[in-house]
Amino acid sequence: MPAKVKNVKFNNGQEMPMVGLGTYARKAEPGQFRQAVEWAIDLGYRHIDSAAVYKNEVEVGEAIANKIEEGLVKREDLFVTSKLWNDCHARDVVVETLMESLRKLKLDYVDLYLIHWPISVTADGVDTAISYLETWKGMEKTVELGLAKSIGVSNFNEKQIQEIYDNAVIKPVVNQVEINPTLTQNSLVNLCKQLSIIPVAYTPLGLISEARPEFAGIDVIKTDPKLGELATKYGKTRAQIALRYLIQRGIPVIPKSFTKSRIEENINVFDFELTDKEMEVVDGYNLNHHCVPGKGFEKYTYYPF
Ligand SMILES: NC(=O)c1ccc[n+]([C@@H]2O[C@H](COP(=O)([O-])OP(=O)(O)OC[C@H]3O[C@@H](n4cnc5c(N)ncnc54)[C@H](OP(=O)(O)O)[C@@H]3O)[C@@H](O)[C@H]2O)c1
Repeated sequence: MPAKVKNVKFNNGQEMPMVGLGTYARKAEPGQFRQAVEWAIDLGYRHIDSAAVYKNEVEVGEAIANKIEEGLVKREDLFVTSKLWNDCHARDVVVETLMESLRKLKLDYVDLYLIHWPISVTADGVDTAISYLETWKGMEKTVELGLAKSIGVSNFNEKQIQEIYDNAVIKPVVNQVEINPTLTQNSLVNLCKQLSIIPVAYTPLGLISEARPEFAGIDVIKTDPKLGELATKYGKTRAQIALRYLIQRGIPVIPKSFTKSRIEENINVFDFELTDKEMEVVDGYNLNHHCVPGKGFEKYTYYPF
């Protein structure tokens, strides 16, 4: 039985499933993205998070086409996201950049198109400092042309999201940012909610990277005994507790996995509920630690963190 997943409703009335499959991987074998997306759709996922920079749009598109051809889903059953990379921020190239993504995905439209980061650079990394307010005008054009149903942003801080909100003709529907038990982002989440913008959690499992030695040994999601007790109490895994914590805060999640059993596990988070006290316990793990600090971007004008 495919899992039953709740939806969130955007400020424009469109709905999005609260669990989507993340598809970023630093390393992947040929066919691995396609296989993960096909498993996910088989297991009940209807929301796929992709991006031009992930270099997987062709495989994601093949998986979607295969499942439509099989008759398992129709295009309108699926919610597909792609993202505009940092070297395509000039207002006039946004539409053609999305059209290139659509060609790769073999789709006529995406459900959601995001500005991936607020920073703007050339392909070889020179700061072009194009204002994201300019880029947003190109994003609005994609909606007018029917190429994107909704538009939003990613990795925008509070000041930046407020600025987009204040200047937009078409308001952003989401801000996709890192949120997990060790980066709870309470203030940014509250602001997004005030503005009727849905905060979406990337890296929702927050498995602390070994590349950050200052955080070594405090990977609560893997090791904290209380989180283990909650997992035992509910007959769930630690990962499911972390995802459920976010869902209960009204935050959609996009965990990535290439492992069929984990893909299944990550969507099965709608049949139990953490108590208020247990939510507080997980909230208490906050370290304001970014697994994705965007270190290489620090030198750019609109670096958000
Ligand atoms: N907008 C942005 O700038 C941005 C930045 C980062 C990520 N994202 C999006 O968010 C998605 C998720 O983020 P992420 O990939 O960084 O991190 P994540 O989903 O929190 O974690 C992925 C890692 O956790 C493992 N995993 C998955 N499910 C698990 C489970 N149930 N138990 C134990 N381990 C599990 C995966 O391993 P296996 O694959 O081996 O199973 C993988 O190594 C990305 O794929 C991408 O779509 C967006």
